[in-house]
Amino acid sequence: MVTDTFVQSVKVVTGRGSLQRIGELLEKAGYQKAFLVFDEFMKQSGVIEKITQKLQEHKIAFVEYGEVLPDPPSEIIDKGAFLCKESGCDCVVAIGGGSSIDTGKGINVLRFNEGQILDYAAKNMKPCAGLIVVPTTAGTGSELSNGAIITDSKNNVKAPILCFNNMPEYALLDPELTVGMPYQLTLMTGLDAFSHAVESYTSKNANPMTDFICEKAMQTVIENLPIVLVQPQNLAAREKMQCAASIGGWMLYSASAHIGHSMAHVLGAQFHLVHGAACAYVLPTLLSKLATVSTEKIKYVGQLLGVIYSGNETTAEIGHRVSNAFQQYVQQLGLPPMPSYEISQAELTLLTQKIVQEPLAIFSPFPLEENEVQALLAEILQ
Ligand SMILES: [Fe+2]
Repeated sequence: MVTDTFVQSVKVVTGRGSLQRIGELLEKAGYQKAFLVFDEFMKQSGVIEKITQKLQEHKIAFVEYGEVLPDPPSEIIDKGAFLCKESGCDCVVAIGGGSSIDTGKGINVLRFNEGQILDYAAKNMKPCAGLIVVPTTAGTGSELSNGAIITDSKNNVKAPILCFNNMPEYALLDPELTVGMPYQLTLMTGLDAFSHAVESYTSKNANPMTDFICEKAMQTVIENLPIVLVQPQNLAAREKMQCAASIGGWMLYSASAHIGHSMAHVLGAQFHLVHGAACAYVLPTLLSKLATVSTEKIKYVGQLLGVIYSGNETTAEIGHRVSNAFQQYVQQLGLPPMPSYEISQAELTLLTQKIVQEPLAIFSPFPLEENEVQALLAEILQ
């Protein structure tokens, strides 16, 4: 596969305490008025105050937009874009988890493009500049990815917006911002990061460069997620998780997630599942299936999870063992079992159709026959 997407265009400022440099960064880039995008929790945590102090020291004006919601609804973005343009801000600074960053991305799209954000799920956008992102979780990778996942509340679907023309100008990665994450958020975001690496590793668009990096990202999450869960103040492990998550975002850009994320998006919207949990719930079944088409890669994932092979295993046995190892890994970390849902055959068929049509599904490394996807889905939901 020949690809031209192995590009990393975001200027990354990284290291402990790098948040202190935000004022200097904006000043050097020539910005004068920042539109700050965040949620209520970020405000309460004091992070926004630290940022505004630094902006004031560098004489950068700002407007605060603290209305971000989880699974960012399109209307919050449309409203933010209106306020941003009305206030004459010349850059957008998104601070927080994936929802804040994706909201900031959406607002920045509408600074340079007419209409509403959901229009850009289906059409190209003009180039956008002046987006600065400050992630405070280690999972989504949105800081280095080309995507923004927006919720279309009216139709109860998640709409991926492809942002090749709206990549962040700067990503400021300060691991100190992630030490305050509670257990469940650390777990869910970490599992999201892992699923990005696994799916990008096995994507139809994967290449030797992305494989090399995905292997490191998977290993880093597997080793460090258990550490940050029991030692939340362990800055060295938090830093590694942050790197793995951001690199995972880059891999989404370069190789892409595929059917695992298609399933996670559809099931997440249908049953209101936390995204990282939805990704982890589909992975055991997906790993088994992937072993049939990417046997060596799935074997490697198993090695990272502690599977020891005799060398005589069939493809099905490899899939089964890796799937079990992943289930054990997440159980030990405290992921609750997937809730059981009673759904009819007609609903199963409808969900399957949504999954097959979900935009990331085209990167699946195996053909998406509807009956086969339905069988996978039935296994996940059983
Ligand atoms: Fe994800």
